[in-house]
Amino acid sequence: MHKRQVFKAIALVVIALTATQSIADGATFKIGLILPMTGQQASTGRQIEAAAKLYMAQNGDTVAGKKIQLIIKDDTTIPDVTKRLAQELVVNDKVDVLAGFGITPSALATAPIATQSKTPMVVMAAATSSITQASPYIVRTSFTLAQAAVAMGDWAPKNGLKKVVTLVSDYGPGIDAEKYFIERLQLNGGQVAESLRVPMRNPDFAPFLQKVRDLKPDALFVFVPSGAGAAVMKQFLERGMDKAGIKLIGTGDVTDDDQLNDMGDGALGVVTSHHYSAAHPSAANKKFVEAFQKANKGMRPNFMAVGGYDGMRVIYEALKASKGQGGGDALLAAMKGQIFESPRGPMFIDSQTRDVVHNIYLRKVQRQDGQLHNVEFDVIKDVKDPGKTK
Ligand code: PHB
Repeated sequence: MHKRQVFKAIALVVIALTATQSIADGATFKIGLILPMTGQQASTGRQIEAAAKLYMAQNGDTVAGKKIQLIIKDDTTIPDVTKRLAQELVVNDKVDVLAGFGITPSALATAPIATQSKTPMVVMAAATSSITQASPYIVRTSFTLAQAAVAMGDWAPKNGLKKVVTLVSDYGPGIDAEKYFIERLQLNGGQVAESLRVPMRNPDFAPFLQKVRDLKPDALFVFVPSGAGAAVMKQFLERGMDKAGIKLIGTGDVTDDDQLNDMGDGALGVVTSHHYSAAHPSAANKKFVEAFQKANKGMRPNFMAVGGYDGMRVIYEALKASKGQGGGDALLAAMKGQIFESPRGPMFIDSQTRDVVHNIYLRKVQRQDGQLHNVEFDVIKDVKDPGKTK
């Protein structure tokens, strides 16, 4: 009798230990979210962190029987740091998914780690076409510059802006924006007066804008990464370029919703092409913007926030579809082909390319309810990344 009780006690302890072990290893689902929380792209980190937390608050932190743990790391906008953090998250924390990636060089630096460890890597911000080709484990929920730039290359010459100077940030997304904008501009009978590239880090736009003024184009097409738009706008206006009859156009990164409302009336009338505006008139977006602002002291969500919010959704749904089994390959398979309504509009993860397919909108800065907004006036539906066919 006594012996049997001892055995029973030992058995219970073993079961309890096993259960604790499985909570530590198997019952938690870890998302390693690497973001630029400081440094040049800090606004991207702030926006995506807020969006990921909102998604979890709205959808719970238990999915398919697993407790979701979000591990946020600051890469300080330095790609070597992103790579080291990803390595640590995979090896030490044993994360199930890597996510975030504020700039293209950070995403590219991490791609080999995703491949080697078979860890799905959800790119929520970076937007150079080639990123998804850097690892078969990458899935993108942000956008590509090629998608946005093509729409502007079609719109500008058809709307009287034939002679254009391009001004882009001198790295992956800027080079894509320049290439795809110019290709379509020329196809539509426009011409490029000059192509200027500014350094990605700490750019001084003044000498470039002086040059643009001298060239007197119909329009200046700009790509700068999220967060740099306000500086471009300020110097554009200070130099009286608008008064000299030069129209400012670009991808929506320049009239970023994170900064737009503080740019002043000088921004009115600027036309851009992009996949997301906080003013997108859908019920789903109104709900998203309201909840985001309520949770974040009135901060307006920008396109980075939406990439983060949709990225969380893709991860949650993949975990549900793979019935909590996890495993990089099962998760990846369940991310491919997801189709849903995003705050941006309809969105689809192309199974072949693992890249996002979505609408690209033409928008004009207008005052709406007393605030400056990118107001959509036209749409090109279901745009695949043009960079994939090359
Ligand atoms: C990028 O580095 O890929 C990037 C960053 C900010 C943007 C767009 C692209 O607004």
